[in-house]
Amino acid sequence: MTKLVGVLTAGGDTPGLNAALRGLGKAAIERYGMQIVGFYEGFRGLMQNRTIRLDGSNLSGILTRGGTILGTSRDKPNNMPMGGQFLDMTDTMVENYKRHHLDVLICIGGGGTHKSAAKLMKKGLNIITIPKTIDNDLSGTDHSIGFDTALGIATDAVDRLHSTAHSHHRIIVVELMGHNTGWLALGAGIAGGADVILIPEIPYETKSIAEAILSRSRGGKRFSIVAVSEGAMSRKDAAKMRRVEEELAATGKSPEKEKAEARLLKLRQQHTANTINLAAELAQMTDLESRVTILGYVQRGGTPSAYDRLLATRLGTAAADLINQGKFGVMVAARGEGIEPVDLEKIVGKRNTVPVDHPWVLSAREVGTNLGD
Ligand code: F6P
Repeated sequence: MTKLVGVLTAGGDTPGLNAALRGLGKAAIERYGMQIVGFYEGFRGLMQNRTIRLDGSNLSGILTRGGTILGTSRDKPNNMPMGGQFLDMTDTMVENYKRHHLDVLICIGGGGTHKSAAKLMKKGLNIITIPKTIDNDLSGTDHSIGFDTALGIATDAVDRLHSTAHSHHRIIVVELMGHNTGWLALGAGIAGGADVILIPEIPYETKSIAEAILSRSRGGKRFSIVAVSEGAMSRKDAAKMRRVEEELAATGKSPEKEKAEARLLKLRQQHTANTINLAAELAQMTDLESRVTILGYVQRGGTPSAYDRLLATRLGTAAADLINQGKFGVMVAARGEGIEPVDLEKIVGKRNTVPVDHPWVLSAREVGTNLGD
């Protein structure tokens, strides 16, 4: 019997999503004779039953296109914004899955998408996920679609900032994405030759950064590039965060818990304010001019790199193979040159952060990069 496959892309977009849809779709249709229905805008489209039949015509010519032809959203099945309130719409999604007589739902996404997909799996749906995120923070897979492209864009930005910082004898603080992990800033900082790299996993001391910049100045280099991950924090703020997290763990469901959650969210969201304050403090402490560049969404835009196209095609086609084998409840993980199905339950809710003794961290230190500690 012809297998019916549903697919959606959810969470923040990344370059390479279309390449994954194409890999999955072409293999499923051409190799296995399956049929594919795409749901628009992630789980919202599944709830609203907004679909498009994917076939040879719309899967062609998208390998190199950024974004996702299906659109995406961060809406979650159990917490769906509906007319000013948040509702649990999981059952409606289960009904729509059944209405289409789907054999499986493929969810392409990051950490949030994996949590949502696992909830649908618990409701009895056959699920396969494909990992994508520019943050590289998904556990269980060596690589995720989008990271390589974002790394290239961020590295190019750090490269380009050198000549202007050098010409004006300035400190340029460049904020890179990464959510609460430092892979992107660390990778681009090393590849782009940043003088200081600040990541969430290593809370910083502004004085240590200023000293590193002053020592460069004394050596005749009157400019510095500081690559800062959006989630990086000073030691003081990190300690504050830990205290609120502990408070949160100790409180049951109560108004105190809500207050602690709000405080935590505020601390997590003050990225740009932290970056701007840091640049101002460094200018004051070093007597050099400073400027800020927030790279932002440009890191997620445009054409995927060759590596991401290849990865997305490998993961997409592997997902089609797993459907054919009837293997569900897994993420298609990249493992070395190969692919491995990993049980969703084993990886949901886990985050791949930068170990403080990771080889990238050690190499950065060995070339004399200041990591703020
Ligand atoms: O997870 C990808 C990411 O780009 C993060 O690096 C960033 O913190 C976040 O998404 C931005 O989210 P949004 O697209 O919802 O503004």
